[in-house]
Formats: sequence, C-alpha cells, structure tokens
Amino acid sequence: MGQTRAGILGTGHSYPEGILTNDDLAKMVETSDEWITTRTGIKQRRKAGPGEYTSMFAVRAGREAIERARLDPSDIDLLICATVTPDQILPSTGCIIQAELGCNNAAAMDVVAACSGFLYGLSLADSMIRTGQSKYALVIGAEILTQYVDYTDRKTCVLFGDGAGAAVVGSVEGNRGILAAKIKSDGRYEEQLFSPGGGTRRRPTAETLAAGDHFFKMKGNELFKIAVRSMAEISRDVLESAGLSPNDVDLVIPHQANQRITEAVASKLNVDMSKVYSNIAVHGNTSSASIPIALDECVETGRVNEGDVVLLTSFGGGVTWGSVLMRW
Ligand code: ACO
Repeated sequence: MGQTRAGILGTGHSYPEGILTNDDLAKMVETSDEWITTRTGIKQRRKAGPGEYTSMFAVRAGREAIERARLDPSDIDLLICATVTPDQILPSTGCIIQAELGCNNAAAMDVVAACSGFLYGLSLADSMIRTGQSKYALVIGAEILTQYVDYTDRKTCVLFGDGAGAAVVGSVEGNRGILAAKIKSDGRYEEQLFSPGGGTRRRPTAETLAAGDHFFKMKGNELFKIAVRSMAEISRDVLESAGLSPNDVDLVIPHQANQRITEAVASKLNVDMSKVYSNIAVHGNTSSASIPIALDECVETGRVNEGDVVLLTSFGGGVTWGSVLMRW
C-alpha cells in the first residue's frame, strides 16, 4: 500500500483558431521557413485575434479538466493560473477564471514564473494537497504571448504562440501520483528575457508604448545554454529524490521552447528521443501553457498510460526552472 500522494485527475486544453505560419512571418520580417524550422523546429503557432483574451482559453481548458476529473466546479478549492500575459493587472486572471467557471469554493491567484509557471503551480498544488490544505486544485497555464511580441524583431517573433492547458490535482492512492517536484529561480538573469515597460518601474506612457518597451526582449542564444543546463540538472534532482534513474522514465514532456533545446536536454539525460514528446512544430512556445497542452495531447492520444513514469521539465524568463516527476 503506497502513501497518499497528489496526482493529476483530469486535463484539458484550448487555443485560438488563428494560425500564423512561418511563411506568414517571412512576409513580415527577414526570415524563412527553412531558418525557423531548422533552428527551432517550429512550423506554425496559434495567434489570438482581436477580442480574444487569456482567460477565454483558460476557462475552456479548465472546464474540460474539471469534467474529465468527473468533478463539479464547486469541488475545486484552489485555482492557480500561471501566466505572464494576464487579462489585466487587477484582479488576477485566476479570479476572473474562478468566477467564470463557478469555482465558488476556491481560493484563486496568479503565478508569474514565465514558462515554468505551470510547474510552479503544480508544485504548489502538490504541497497544498499533501498537507491537507486543499482537496482539489485546478492548475492552469494560459498565455496570449503574441500580443507582447514585436513583429519587427525576428529574434523573438518567430517563437511564440497562444493557448491554455489545465490539470485538476487531487489525492491519489497506491503507487501513482507526484513522486518529486522541484522549482528554482535566478533573478540575476532578469534581462535575458524581459518586458521592461508597463509596470511601476517603467510606467506605461505614450513614449514607452511607442518605443515598444512592453514587448518581450530576449537574448536567445545565452538563454539556450542556461535552459539546457538547468532543465537537465533539476530533472536529475527529482529523479534522485524519487530513487529513480533516467532509464526508468517512460515519457518526458519538456517545455516546448526550441526543438534543439529539447534534444540537448534529452541527450544530457541520456533519454532516447522516442520517449520525448514534442508539439513545438504546431504550437511554437506557449510559455506556461506549453506543458499542460502537451500533457493533455498525450492523454488524448494515449501516449501516456497508467503506471508510466512521466517527467515534466521547464525553463523560462526570470529565470525560473523546475521539474515534476510522477507516476501516471
Ligand atoms: N530568421 C533568420 N535569421 C535569424 C532569425 C530569424 N528568425 N533570428 C535570428 N537570426 C539570425 C541572427 O540575427 C544571427 O545572425 P548574425 O550571426 O548575422 O548576427 C543568427 O541568426 C544567429 O542568431 P542566434 O540568436 O545565435 O540563433 P540561435 O541559433 O541561438 O537561435 C533562438 C535563436 C531560436 C532564439 C534560440 O537561441 C532559442 O531558442 N533560445 C532559447 C529561448 C528560450 O528558451 N527562452 C526561454 C523560454 S521562453 C519564456 O520564458 C517566455
């Protein structure tokens, strides 16, 4: 008889209908389908249209996850929305989703940890459930990144896409559930990926808007190396905590930042690419939404099965990184 752990009870995802292809981007900046495909693995990404906002997709993904967990929205007592592209500053997107879904008994909040946001949320939910503070948590990663992308900057605009993914977390019996979770940060790398304008340090004015200070700025090739090193290290950490080795892993779902990053992490961990899930070709980098979208796709297509050891790992702006290891 195993100990009671937190585990995933249901998943969901949603994204806008609009598609932005590499060829579309090649008409906007000096780039090509060939460059984007070989350097990133991305062929297209979803792009929200006018009138579409972050919580719309979060609500759809969250509703699906609650239904698949066979729960009622009122059963959820903790709602965490991971996002760097909230509907607005106040209230939290978590609260907007909470009202929209009718999660009337839930505490709700946002977690801002960029691409690691979903794993930050999952790690918090894991702790709250194991300590008995929460019974059912809804963790959502949702982003409309394309609104913060500068479509004159070819170094960033080819990467990002929009969407949302969600998971309901609750206690599970037996061997399954979250075996180990770790999250970390290093704010000294702030300027490797940031959006300098629009907050209290650089208040939004006509000048900051005209200068594009609200857009993401990124030093991609420096982040690349830190991302590979951090995800490999923290993945080894969670495996060690659970007394497992990379050989025991059946499925790796990494944050979809760049196919070359994914391949480098797999190689450092000595995990065969056949065990690594990738959907970057069709979604690009959706930041906090990328892991829960990928996880739900794995559920829907039968790529993950009962008893499988699943490793989730992410890296993002902040910088932040994390890994969660679970038995499905
Ligand atoms: N099309 C054509 N050429 C381009 C493009 C483009 N879209 N983008 C850059 N180039 C050029 C550069 O100008 C440079 O040319 P130069 O040598 O003449 O100066 C050349 O290609 C190489 O540029 P690099 O930046 O070194 O290219 P790299 O192979 O590193 O790829 C990329 C860039 C895709 C951004 C990569 O570095 C990357 O994926 N980095 C990691 C991003 C990441 O993980 N971010 C954190 C998570 S995201 C989040 O938290 C929201």
